[in-house]
Amino acid sequence: MSVAVTVKALMPADIRARKGNHPIVCLTAYTTPVARLADKHCDLVLVGDSVGMVVHGLPSTVGVSLDMMIMHGEAVRRGLDRALMVVDMPFGTYEESREMALRNASTIMARTGCAAVKLEGGETMADTIHFLTQRGIPVMAHIGLTPQSINTLGGYKVQGRGRDAERVERDARAVAQAGAFSVVLEKIAETTACKITAAVEIPTIGIGASASCDGQILVVDDMLGMFVEFRPKFVKRYAEIAKDAGQAMSAYAAEVRNRSFPGMEHVFADAVASTAKIAAQA
Ligand code: KIV
Repeated sequence: MSVAVTVKALMPADIRARKGNHPIVCLTAYTTPVARLADKHCDLVLVGDSVGMVVHGLPSTVGVSLDMMIMHGEAVRRGLDRALMVVDMPFGTYEESREMALRNASTIMARTGCAAVKLEGGETMADTIHFLTQRGIPVMAHIGLTPQSINTLGGYKVQGRGRDAERVERDARAVAQAGAFSVVLEKIAETTACKITAAVEIPTIGIGASASCDGQILVVDDMLGMFVEFRPKFVKRYAEIAKDAGQAMSAYAAEVRNRSFPGMEHVFADAVASTAKIAAQA
């Protein structure tokens, strides 16, 4: 007899309840195998629109479509049992009106099975966040450096320094009051991130922010070292996959060229040879 073990998946309310408690561990994932790995270690897995840059080779997240997010969301869903799954709303799918945001957020939830969506913006998005949360759509907010606004921000600059701190703090208070269950603080001056974490009642999830945040998130390809080209200051590499993969491919190429791969252990004897071997052994 086999006993089915069901793992209870974390919900937005569980993450919300972790404010000021054990740090919340978050990573992005875009595929089933990576989601399976992350599920063992993370409380929250984000299908980030960073998928456009790290998987599809786009220059920014601006070109990411709803279909891309849904396809990667479906893949990640198949790999998760326990972690809360959040899917990013891509650029252009929620800013125009709160009704548009509701339509697209509910499509993402229905098609991917995620329990929450994330969208970028502070005060300007507070009304939309309130509208969604009142209609059964848990929202993770994202303030500070909001990569979808790269063309108006003029670069991936640190936010919330000096006099700019007040603006970012206002954004944090606005999304918390609007009903977001958590807020990502991206590339925000450390002291400002610290102040926000103390000021708002929802968990803050830092990326390039502060160790005092209620949790941390990294883009999985960044922390695994899937690139050799660049390394943002806020990324700590826990592996060097690109380097290891390059060495593996180089070894494979050399063995194909000198015909040492495949070896006899990787090929199949034909039926006549196998029959002859059985006869000889009899
Ligand atoms: O798209 C993404 O991966 C994100 C994280 C950086 C928070 O928004």
